Amino acid sequence: MSTIAAFYEGKSILITGATGFLGKVLMEKLFRTCPGLKVIYILVRPKAGHTLQQRVVQILNSKLFEKVKEVCPNVHEKIRAIKSDLNHSDLAISKEDMQELLSCTDIIFHCAATVRFDDHLRHAVQLNVIATQKLLLMASQMPKLKAFIHLSTAFSNCNLKHIDEVVYPCPVEPKKIIDSMEC
Ligand SMILES: NC(=O)c1ccc[n+]([C@@H]2O[C@H](COP(=O)([O-])OP(=O)(O)OC[C@H]3O[C@@H](n4cnc5c(N)ncnc54)[C@H](OP(=O)(O)O)[C@@H]3O)[C@@H](O)[C@H]2O)c1
Repeated sequence: MSTIAAFYEGKSILITGATGFLGKVLMEKLFRTCPGLKVIYILVRPKAGHTLQQRVVQILNSKLFEKVKEVCPNVHEKIRAIKSDLNHSDLAISKEDMQELLSCTDIIFHCAATVRFDDHLRHAVQLNVIATQKLLLMASQMPKLKAFIHLSTAFSNCNLKHIDEVVYPCPVEPKKIIDSMEC
């Protein structure tokens, strides 16, 4: 067993944006290569007339998951879809679900985001910044948490010609941007 698979043995993982491009690939890779993981909670919203369960079935029936179903036939038992809308002030997670997530989550992958470069600033800040802040707050209440991985928005330093792997200071105080969205 690889050290990565050993790390995930018995772990409960929470993924946001699991219905998106990166989230689906991440989930497939985890199920295929870490058979010992306990459960993947995914925060999903009903969309285009499809319920949560229908959306999960759609993902599992996609070509991407063919291999996973061979190596992990009980994959459907290891996905737990939790209703949530990250645009909502309390993430729209029920009390019972929140309790389970707080007590059971070992690792969070936060992949939900808007990746539209011409999105309204208000919506982009709400989803990419404020919802991330709320998830971090939630994560701070998880006694078992080992890692919070944020797949942040691409091209966030597009004004620079050369981008180093460092955290750049924000040209505007982030809190000011968040506060201005409430005006
Ligand atoms: N794609 C890449 O090559 C790439 C590379 C590097 C970094 N990234 C970063 O990775 C992150 C994800 O990118 P992606 O390409 O996977 O984006 P994507 O395909 O557009 O997926 C976005 C995900 O966010 C979810 N989401 C959006 N609004 C939501 C809300 N209000 N409540 C709950 N979930 C919501 C979407 O759910 P629905 O299905 O319900 O809409 C979807 O699952 C972004 O931050 C992106 O910048 C992407």
